[in-house]
Amino acid sequence: MSFKNSYMSKQILVTGGTGYIGSHTVVELQNSGFDVVIVDNLSNSKIEVLDNIEKITGIRPGFEKFDLADAKLTNDFFQKYKDIEAAIHFAAFKAVGESVQEPLMYYQNNLNSLMNILSGMKTHGVKNLVFSSSCTVYGQPDKLPVTEDTPRKEAESPYGNTKAVSEDIMRDFAKVNDEHNLIALRYFNPIGAHESALIGELPVGVPNNLVPFITQTAAGVRGELSIFGDDYNTPDGTAIRDFINVVDLAKAHVVAINRLLNGKNKKNYEYFNVGTGEGVSVMQLVKVFIEVTGVNLKYKIVGRREGDIEKIWADTSYGNAELGWKAEKTIKQTILSAWNWEKRLRGIK
Ligand code: UFG
Repeated sequence: MSFKNSYMSKQILVTGGTGYIGSHTVVELQNSGFDVVIVDNLSNSKIEVLDNIEKITGIRPGFEKFDLADAKLTNDFFQKYKDIEAAIHFAAFKAVGESVQEPLMYYQNNLNSLMNILSGMKTHGVKNLVFSSSCTVYGQPDKLPVTEDTPRKEAESPYGNTKAVSEDIMRDFAKVNDEHNLIALRYFNPIGAHESALIGELPVGVPNNLVPFITQTAAGVRGELSIFGDDYNTPDGTAIRDFINVVDLAKAHVVAINRLLNGKNKKNYEYFNVGTGEGVSVMQLVKVFIEVTGVNLKYKIVGRREGDIEKIWADTSYGNAELGWKAEKTIKQTILSAWNWEKRLRGIK
């Protein structure tokens, strides 16, 4: 260990660090003593997020604004920041429907940025990477819950395919770069916000995802929630997901980073499910929202949404055992945190 590292905290690059999951992860990294540098082009997030991270942690993270799909800028970044010991790569486009309309935009952005980061890491000797993957790689599994050994299925959308191809790129890179260590975290459905209500999800326009749509409807921004389908083969007919608290998810990243920095990984490319292990239906979630907030949420049942899968939830036993991490928050706490965030955004008391 160099003299410098013996007293300085370890520096972590967080791409997409002003985004939803990224910002919560920056907070947890800083709370764990890491020095964070964010790279974000602010295409889907706001610079003010830095102020709020600072309010929560007392520390303003480093920040560079550029597009990681630009190979030269990415290389220049690694040239400038020589002390980075690990990266967490969140920056990506994530709207499933948009990816169907604009496949090239999705492949160009999501795949080039990953390749540029890996290339920068290789050139500049940064050994460790944690990547945002998704349970979307499982499609509609034949058997539930899904373990890490559940076979991947052909992606339902270009967005989903960028996650599958990104995993393949990491696997192939790791095969021939022994000294590099990579972890893909397959997130289930991240929801909720930091308990301070200072950071949370900031959807642009009409939200695609369930919880922001619920909270915006409750806040009066949207008229009514549409529940997409009640004729699925599930106990109440609505689709089932594994909703994971975003702060729990953020903590899984800190654990993954420590695993790599401490050389505890078993292979140099690993992947883990990050969920709660429990399936909750759309209708159950709506009922929890009404129960914990007391808000009379308006909703109606409409037809299924194209491309939706019926049900999925994680078997988290492998990740829990290997990482020593477990989701801790209850669904009620999580839903309340989402509502507190929406209320603060809208100035609702
Ligand atoms: N839903 C509604 N009404 C809405 C929004 C959603 O009923 O207004 C339903 C959906 O039909 C689905 C469930 O709520 O059954 C969850 O939908 P989300 O859009 O919140 O989440 P998805 O499971 O569709 O998508 C998430 C991530 C994607 C990822 C996908 C698969 O947002 O990034 O999981 O892994 F690709």
